[in-house]
Amino acid sequence: MVSPRPAVQALPAYKPGRNPADLAREIGVDRAVKLASNEVAFPPLPAVVEALAAAAAETNRYPDNGAVVLTRALADRYAVDPAQVVTGCGAVMLCQQLAQSYNDPGTSLAFAWRSFEMYPLLAQVAGARAIQVPLVPDRSDGPADTHDLDALAAAIDDTTRVVFVCNPNNPTGTAVRRAELEAFLDAVPASTLVVLDEAYREFVTDPDVPDGIELMRGRPNVAVLRTFSKAWGLAGLRVGYRIAEDPAVAVAVRKTHVPFSVSMLAQAAAVAALASDEEVRARCAAVVAERDRLTAALRERGLDVSDSQANFVWLPVGEQATELTAALEARAIITRPFAGEGVRVTVGTPQEDDLFLAALDAVLDDARAALPAS
Ligand SMILES: Cc1ncc(COP(=O)(O)O)c(C=O)c1O
Repeated sequence: MVSPRPAVQALPAYKPGRNPADLAREIGVDRAVKLASNEVAFPPLPAVVEALAAAAAETNRYPDNGAVVLTRALADRYAVDPAQVVTGCGAVMLCQQLAQSYNDPGTSLAFAWRSFEMYPLLAQVAGARAIQVPLVPDRSDGPADTHDLDALAAAIDDTTRVVFVCNPNNPTGTAVRRAELEAFLDAVPASTLVVLDEAYREFVTDPDVPDGIELMRGRPNVAVLRTFSKAWGLAGLRVGYRIAEDPAVAVAVRKTHVPFSVSMLAQAAAVAALASDEEVRARCAAVVAERDRLTAALRERGLDVSDSQANFVWLPVGEQATELTAALEARAIITRPFAGEGVRVTVGTPQEDDLFLAALDAVLDDARAALPAS
């Protein structure tokens, strides 16, 4: 038998999320609601559907491997040079390319934990050491479950090639503020690349949470990751981008690009989405209003929910996470458990969120009924 690399053998097997159609069939209901993957509930933008139809007629050709039109559109939008921009097959692929381009065995990759589940895997595949710095569970000057940037800066050593700061953080939804992030960037050595992962940037409403692309300017060791999967509604097409102050970062990341992995359809759709940015802004405002309603409704039920700056909320239910997710699934609601820590719930439509809240009430009632009478 041919053995995979030990680092790969040690990786957890891929575990797909629940499919709503399968779940609905299994429990005998018409429809299950999926609030597990942080997608937006809106259908694709009309301009995207049109662009896809037009591009479909050319799919006998390879896509433009340099994604020139999309790269230019992004450069114009953010007032940077196209040489500073790289597109990728989802931001996840860009995460992987960053680790491949910067992490040799013997180096390290640092990040907060709990954060985006991909980060530890990046280190493992690269044969690099993962430096995980716990979130601050409770603090007087900001939301609970936030990055501890002082500890993260202190944990970086001369082996650390890349440090991820997920802002807002997946899965807690919490965000770090300008002053602390600037102090962190000042403290990180020039030999460590800081990647500000802003997959959820478009949902940020706190004016004190900085725009990474603005912070990046003048800082050659800072790169920003964004995606079309969330606010822009293109999760099924797989396209993200990375902008860095120093074009050398783009040169390095392009070297590990899987050729043609940003499809022609993805490029056409992303360009059309960027041209519809007013519509996207209105959709984000609707998601934010619903996020705030959902947060208030959860707090009314006694749950200690931190302010989220993303399109999901975090229920810090600890040991009950797996059980709560299973009980919600039995009521046709799919959420994302993090065993022993909490449950992440994506903001859906008002109707979907009402179905979730009703299911949650039923689960809480059952739990109360099961308690011994006092
Ligand atoms: C923090 C974070 N970064 C990056 C990504 C990757 O997004 P995509 O590969 O869909 O562009 C996600 C997706 O869930 C995420 O939560």
